[in-house]
Amino acid sequence: MTTRLIFALLCVLMLAAGSVQAGGDPAKGKELSIDCADCHGDDGMGDDEFPKLAGLDAAEHVAALKGYASGERVDESEMMGDIASELSEQDMADLAAYYANLGSN
Ligand code: HEC
Repeated sequence: MTTRLIFALLCVLMLAAGSVQAGGDPAKGKELSIDCADCHGDDGMGDDEFPKLAGLDAAEHVAALKGYASGERVDESEMMGDIASELSEQDMADLAAYYANLGSN
C-alpha cells in the first residue's frame, strides 16, 4: 500500500516538473519580446552592449530573469532588475520559450 502511494506521488511530481518545462508559450513570448527588442534586438541577437538572447537555453533564461528580479544576480547596468521584476513566472517561461527557438530555424 505504502509503495503504491509513493509511486503515485512520484508520478505526480514528475508530471509537475514536466509541465514547468513545457509551460512556455513561444507565441506569447514573441508578443512580450517587443519590450526586450529595444535593447536585445528584434532578432534577439544583441550587440556589444546587450547580450544575445537568441538560442539561450530556456531554463538558463528563466534562471537569469529570476535572478535579476530577486536581486540575486547583479546587473551593473541596472537595466534588467526593474524589467525582470515586472514579469510573472509565466511571462518568463513564455519569453524563454520564444528566445530558445530563435536563431535555430
Ligand atoms: C533597457 C535595455 C534592456 C531591455 C529593455 C531588456 N534588457 Fe535584458 N539585458 C540588458 C542588459 C544591459 C543586460 C546585461 C546585464 C548584465 O550585465 O548582467 C541584459 C541581460 C539580459 C539577460 C542575461 C543574458 C545572459 O546571457 O547573461 C537576459 C536573459 C535578458 N537580459 C532578458 C531580457 C528580456 C526577456 C527582456 C524583455 C522582457 C529584456 N532583457 C529587456 C538590457 C535590457
